[in-house]
Amino acid sequence: MKACVFDAYGTLFDVAAAARVCAAEPGREAFAASWMALAETWRQKQLSYTWLRAVTDEHVDFWTVTGDALDYSLEAHQLGGDPELRERLMRLYFELEAYPEAADVLQTLKARGLALAILSNGEPKMLRAAADNAGLSPLLDDILTVESVGVYKPHRRVYELATKRFTCAPSEILFISSNGWDVSGAAGFGFHAVWVNRRGEPVDRLPHRPAEILNDLSALPELAARLES
Ligand code: LAC
Repeated sequence: MKACVFDAYGTLFDVAAAARVCAAEPGREAFAASWMALAETWRQKQLSYTWLRAVTDEHVDFWTVTGDALDYSLEAHQLGGDPELRERLMRLYFELEAYPEAADVLQTLKARGLALAILSNGEPKMLRAAADNAGLSPLLDDILTVESVGVYKPHRRVYELATKRFTCAPSEILFISSNGWDVSGAAGFGFHAVWVNRRGEPVDRLPHRPAEILNDLSALPELAARLES
C-alpha cells in the first residue's frame, strides 16, 4: 500500500454533528425537536445535488452545495426564515467535528510510516478548517479535493487525483469511505476499497462491492497491517 486515502464527510467528520451541537445550545428548543430529521434531509440533498451537478456539468463548490441543501432542508422542516440559525449551522459545518476514533487511528497509521490523505468533495477551506479543528492536519500528507477537477465523486477524474499524487497504481491505494456509492466508485476505479458501515446498512446495489467492511475506523490499523504482511 502506498497510501491510505480517506473520504471526509461521514467518514472522518461526523455529518450529523453540526445539527446535533446546534440543537444542544440554549434557546434552540424548536430546532431540538427536529434536528435529526433536518440532518438527514440536509445530507441526502447535499449528496444528490453533487450527483446532479456532476451529471449536468454545472459544478459549484461543496460549500455552495451544502448551503443550498441546508436552505432546502430548513424550509422542508418548517425552520426557514431564521438567518441566525442558518449561519450557526453553516459555521458548525465549516469546522465539523471528527468521529471520536479518527485522530488516534490516523496517528497509528502515520506512526507505521503510511502516507495519509483526504480525497473529498469538500471545498478546500472547509476541509482544512475541519482537519485543523480535529487535530488531523499534522497527520495528513495532503488534502485532495474535487475543486482541482471541477466534478464530484464518483467521477473517475476525482479518484485519479490520488494515483497522480502518490504516483502509484489504483490497487496500491487503501481507500476508506462510509458512503456506499463512493466505495463502489472507488472500487471500480481499482482502489482497495473499505466501507465504514457505521449505521449497519445493506451493501449498495451498484457495480462494485467493497473489498472490506468495518463498523467504524478503529479496526483500520489492523486491516492495514494484514494487507501489508
Ligand atoms: C466527501 C463526501 C462524499 O467528503 O462526503 O467527499
